[in-house]
This record gives sequence, structure tokens and C-alpha cells, in this order.
Amino acid sequence: MQYGHFDDNAREYVITRPDTPYPWINYLGCEDFFGLFSNTSGGYCFCRDARMLRLTRYRYNNVPADSGGRYFYLRDEGDVWTPSWMPMKSSLDRYECRHGMGYSKISSARNGLAFSQVSFVPLHDTCEIHKVTLTNESNIDKRIDMFSFIEFCLWNANDDMTNFQRNFSIGEVEIDGSRIYHKTEYRERRNHYAVWAVNVPIEGFDTDRQTFLGLYNGFDHPQAVFEGEAKNSVASGWAPVGSHHIKARLAPGEVKTFVFVLGYCENHEDQKWERPGVINKKPANILLEKYGTSNAADKALAALNEYWKNLLGRFTVDAEDKKMARMAGVWNQYQCMVTFNMSRSASYFESGIGRGMGFRDSNQDLLGFVHLVPERARSRILDIAATQFPDGSAYHQYQPLTKRGNNEVGSGFNDDPLWLICGTAAYIKETGDYGILEEKVPFDNNDALADTLFVHLKRSFDYTVTHTGPHGLPLIGRADWNDCLNLNCFSKTPGESFQTTANYESGVAESVLIAAIFAFTGPDYAEICRRTNRIEEAEYAEKAIAKMIEVIDQHGWDGDWFVRAYDAYGKKIGSRECEDGKIFIESNGFAVMADIGIKDGRARKALDSVKEHLESPYGIVLLQPAYKDYHLELGEVSSYPPGYKENAGIFCHNNPWVTIAETRLGRGNRAFETYAKICPAYREDDSDLRRLEPYVYAQMVAGKDAVRHGEAKNSWLTGTAAWTFVSISQYILGVRPVFDGLMIDPCIPSSMKGFTVTRHFRGADYHITVDNGAGVEKGIKSIMVDGNSLDGEALKKAVLPAFGDNKAHNIIVTMGK
Ligand code: BGC
Repeated sequence: MQYGHFDDNAREYVITRPDTPYPWINYLGCEDFFGLFSNTSGGYCFCRDARMLRLTRYRYNNVPADSGGRYFYLRDEGDVWTPSWMPMKSSLDRYECRHGMGYSKISSARNGLAFSQVSFVPLHDTCEIHKVTLTNESNIDKRIDMFSFIEFCLWNANDDMTNFQRNFSIGEVEIDGSRIYHKTEYRERRNHYAVWAVNVPIEGFDTDRQTFLGLYNGFDHPQAVFEGEAKNSVASGWAPVGSHHIKARLAPGEVKTFVFVLGYCENHEDQKWERPGVINKKPANILLEKYGTSNAADKALAALNEYWKNLLGRFTVDAEDKKMARMAGVWNQYQCMVTFNMSRSASYFESGIGRGMGFRDSNQDLLGFVHLVPERARSRILDIAATQFPDGSAYHQYQPLTKRGNNEVGSGFNDDPLWLICGTAAYIKETGDYGILEEKVPFDNNDALADTLFVHLKRSFDYTVTHTGPHGLPLIGRADWNDCLNLNCFSKTPGESFQTTANYESGVAESVLIAAIFAFTGPDYAEICRRTNRIEEAEYAEKAIAKMIEVIDQHGWDGDWFVRAYDAYGKKIGSRECEDGKIFIESNGFAVMADIGIKDGRARKALDSVKEHLESPYGIVLLQPAYKDYHLELGEVSSYPPGYKENAGIFCHNNPWVTIAETRLGRGNRAFETYAKICPAYREDDSDLRRLEPYVYAQMVAGKDAVRHGEAKNSWLTGTAAWTFVSISQYILGVRPVFDGLMIDPCIPSSMKGFTVTRHFRGADYHITVDNGAGVEKGIKSIMVDGNSLDGEALKKAVLPAFGDNKAHNIIVTMGK
């Protein structure tokens, strides 16, 4: 069943009933301040770092689900209800939630009173705005009591949920008219506070949770609201909250608007106080003045809309298949921007406490947004590179606030270095900016160890070359892309993290996947060397790649598919010789992406085997047969019940590798089939099974061995976003940035009659119309560029030049044999 629909013109997803099978959320914010916002106004917000600067509290794994958010309680002559449905689960005469680009709107009504809430984070400011409108749709006067409610987090989200011996004594607030200030720890080492304000005079307030709710009440039965009166409580320790009590009289037809702002403010250390004990409110005054009226809020929202319109205008798609067009043109790119902002830190599955920015994750995420925000991608690359060690390996993660490598998560994932080459190459292909290679970047965050980004890439490349095992394949280290293939850990201790437990480097366990990534991304390194006149280095790199491909040919082929790895005893993983885990998706996708086995038919065989053994109605599972038992020598992959996560779940991140691989073979029908199976828009009417948002990709869908085959988990923060965008935009629709320009290389279903793409590329706009009247899967008969046809070699190459002239260019492509 469906719980809503896409509104393509508005670029919104419209949720039409509140009891979605899981909270369906949106992300507010695109710079420093972020809010997670569910379809029932649940969620929380933070500034820059989801762990260290959290403004509002959120309890994960909640009962009931998704409690805690920015709530409004309405009391209409004794009838108390919550217009966002939660937390009271109020019956509503109308309900709708529209998640748009960086904003969400909830509208509802009950008993002649209409409510609407527009929530967003304005550009360039560190706050959330919630514009609330009440409309009296009845024909009698209405006397409404409205109560706002948020619960403050004591900043460090981890501490907030664990350190109660301290926390119950430190909460502090200040109240000034309609402005509630949260200033816990401001008296000591913090120089920031939060403010929760409304732009009208209030009747009263509450800042002490127990006084507002009642100790034994949930959010669904706040005592103050039911009694119709705020208690003017001033929090002192325990749990500080922010609630305004507003009285609104509405004549029939009358509309009243209120602007609530939840802001984060900083002061200079020597300007923290207005007078002893009273915080300096200057930054709050400036912020609140700016958004003090409904008009100002509207203007800020309009500016935000313009921002997204421009951003998404850089790549648009039109096609008969609206599901593909809306995903590729809007929602997939939107999700890529969210992964740019969040990496894997804060979602409804990631608590924002444990995980910072991943080295491999961030580099791959970059593939999905480099065309949208190339300058920001540039600084992201430099940030990531600074967490690389001098030997080319890397911290697996870094903290966004400090941009320093995260020791707690360690290193030793031997695929990490190669992703830096992959990300940087994507950036250069997008922008033509080779200058980035000359930027000085620290190693290990130590300026004394700084060298050029090019040297970082070289160390990445060399790390793989110099860390090979008995077969000449790359050593896997702690794990490769598959975090759960822990071939050197041998973990026996319950609860021990596979990511951080001791890694007994065997010097034997090898990864065919890393070899294939090397064969795929290595040529970009060699090409970068050539193009920057490092000819000797290019030759060295090309030799190393050729050698690696030979090794894959010798030791990476199992007869019908590519082997996945060798364990610490030198035994094959992902081979017909194995009882479980005979075939894996990753090495097969990536080897074919690197064009290995295309000429001799192994590539085709490998992908046919993937289809035969790993296919399911909801996508391709990671491996088969699923591991039935825990294997000490394999680690976490075998710790999951069959069908979940890396143990034969549909790990969506690597499905697009197969999609791309299929396009290398020219099989457009099959490529699109693999694309559509994991694309959420195609499962909109299957939401009871899939459960998660139909407008964003999920990390995992339970595989065929799982009890809940088809159910998705971990939406939003997943490398699936970037890779599916690469697969659809660059390989299926085939508009692909390369070093020389913009390549046109579509590989589509034969039934697709054509499509149009507009693409901003290196300072010009390309309006590309592809005609597939011929009904082929691949192949170009002609290309017209601004009325002139490409011939001979130019047509064969099919690379449009970088015009760089700020003009629009018309490209007409006719597919055919
Ligand atoms: C991690 C990725 C990893 C993937 C597969 C994700 O949770 O963020 O870095 O590649 O799992 O194990």
C-alpha cells in the first residue's frame, strides 16, 4: 500500500497519513546547522557535529517510535490535540506532510481549526524556523491555547544519555520574555547557548520537564497542557525543556501566524556575559530580529527554494519513466547532498554518536555531489587527505568538528587509500582543476608532515602495490570495502567490535576486491600522472596495473565468477570450493567495471552467474549461500543471521557496481533492471513490506534467506546514494565526465524511446536529447553539437568539449547500430 505520492512540480513527497510503516524523515539544513524531521514532527537538531553540539534530545529505539521532536499542543476549549499526530496520536480531520528540498510542511485540521507548520533551516544561519499558522475554519469564535515543546540536549549527545550523576545537576536556563535560553555548561567551558523563541508575547512558559509533563506522564499527556496553564517553571538541573504558552483568539475565518526559532549562538570568550550570571544575548537578538516576522520567514524559505532550484538545475532528467526521472533528477541528488553533510553520522539508524566521517565513505559520497558543489568537494578532498598516514594508509574515520582522525575507530582497512584516488579523479574529471594536486596537505593531521595532494595519491597507489600477499593480491588488512570481512581478527569475545578488536595481520589474507578497485581506479592515477607530465610515474603505474590484472586472471577467477578473497590460511572465499559464501557480488561487479574479462567472455559469465545465484525480486544479494554459522576466520560477515546485512542481505551500495558492469557489456535491459530493483520509487506501493521512505535509498534490504525478505533498513546515509547516481547518470543515461570533457555513452533498455538531460559542466550548460527510436540498448549513430555533426574519430570518442563559455549548447544524440 502507498502512504503518499510524489509531487514532481513542487519537488515534494506528500505523505497522506501519519502512521507510516516507519518514521519517514527529511533533513533540514545544508551548511552548519541540521535538523532531522519526521512526518510527525519528530527528530532533533544539532550544529555541525551530531555528537558534540546537539541542541535537542532524541531517544533512539524509542517506545513508542519516534517520540521527541518539536511539538505543538493545541487546546481548543478543553479539547487537547497534537496537529502533527504524534505524540498524542490525535485523530485528525485532515493530515498531510510534505517533505521538500530542505524543508517540511505539516498541515492538519480538527474540529474547524486548521494548523500548518513549515519547518526549515535558513541559508547561512544556525537555526531552525518553524512557521506555524492557525486558521479558524469554523463559524464560531475560537479560544485556543497553544503550547510549544522541545527538550534540550545537554550538548554532548553521548554524555547526555549516560552521565546522569552529573547531568541531573547541571541544567540551566534563562527566560527573557518570549525567549527561552538553554545555557547548560555556559558558566564554564562552553561559549555557546541555544534559544527557543516565538515572535509574539506569551502567556507563560515552562522549562522544567517534570513540571511541564508530570513525572509519570509521556509526551502524550503533558500536565500543563491538560490543565490549560503554563507553570512558569525555571529548570535547575534535571531536564531542561522549552515550552511557550500562547493564547490565540480567532474569529471565524481568521488566520494567525507565529514564527518559532530554535537557534544556536556563540559568543567570544571575553564577551560571554551581559552582567554576572546573565548571558550576552546579542547574537540571539540579531538572529531573532532577522526572523521576527512571518514575511521574513517566507523570504528565507524562498531563498532556500532558490538555492535548491539552482543546485538541482545542474543536472536534470526528463523521460517517459517518471520514477527514474524524479529519482535521478531530484531525490537521488538530494540524498547525495545529505550524505555530503552527514557522511554516516546522524539518521534514524545512526545515532550521530559513534561514527564520524568515513575515509572510504566520504570519498565515495563525493561521486554523487561533486557536480553540484565542486568547490565544497575540493575542500572535502583536502580534509579527508589530511587524515591519511605517511605510508598511504588512513584513519578509517575522522570527526567533522575537529577534522582529525578518529583513533577509537583505528585504521588498517586496506581499501581506504584507493578511494582517495577515486574521489580526486572524479573531482578532476568534473572540474578540470589539476591545481588541486599541488595543494599542500598534512599527513596524520600534522602540518610538519605536509606534502602535495599528488604525493598523497602516490602513497595511496603505492600502499596497494607494496602490501600484497602470497598470490600477489592486495592484503586485506582489517577488512576491505566490506567492513565485515574480517579475515585477520579471529574474534571470540562476545560484544567485541570487529572494527576495533586486535587485527592479527597474517600477511596471507588477500582481497580480490581491492585488486579490482586498483584495476578500476589505478588507470585514473596513471592518466593524472601523464596529464601532469609525470611520465615515468605513469609508466610505473601502468605496469603495476597490468601486473595486478594478470594476478587477478591467475588467482582471482574461479571458473564461472571472480573469487572474493583468500583467508588467513590461504583458502578461497567466494569460490565453488566453499560450502557457504560460494559467490559474492563485490569482486564480480568491480572486476567487470574495470573491464577485466570483457574480451574473453569471463565478464559476461561472471555477471550471468551473479544473476543466476544472487538475484532476487528486490535486488542482488551480497553472497550465496548465506553463512549458517559463525566462522572465526571470516569475522562479522558470518555473525549476522542469514539474509541480513553483509551476510547475504541486499546491500544496495554494491548493486550499482553490477549495473555499471552490465553497461560495460552493453546490456542496457539488464543494467536498468538491476537499477530499478533497488530504486525506492519503484516500490512506493509496496511500503508495508519495504517500510522506509519511497524517496530515498536504503543501505540494506533483507535478502532471500531472511524472514522479512524485502524489508529495508538504514535509509539516507549510505554509499548507495552516490553509486546509484553514478550508475544512472553516467552509465545508463551515459552522460559521463572524463578528463577531456563530457562523454556521451548511453546504455538503456531497448524499450526506452529516449530522454533528455541538462548538465552543467565546467562553466557551460549542455542540453542533451537522446533519441532511441531505433530501440537499441547501446550504440550511437550520430551526435549533433549546436547543429554540427560529429564525424569519424570524434563520433567514435563521443566526448563533448568543455565549452566553458557560460552558454547553453544543444546536443542531439541518435542511438542506433
Ligand atoms: C560502511 C561502509 C562499508 C559498508 C559495507 C557501511 O556501513 O559505512 O564503509 O563499506 O558498510 O560493509
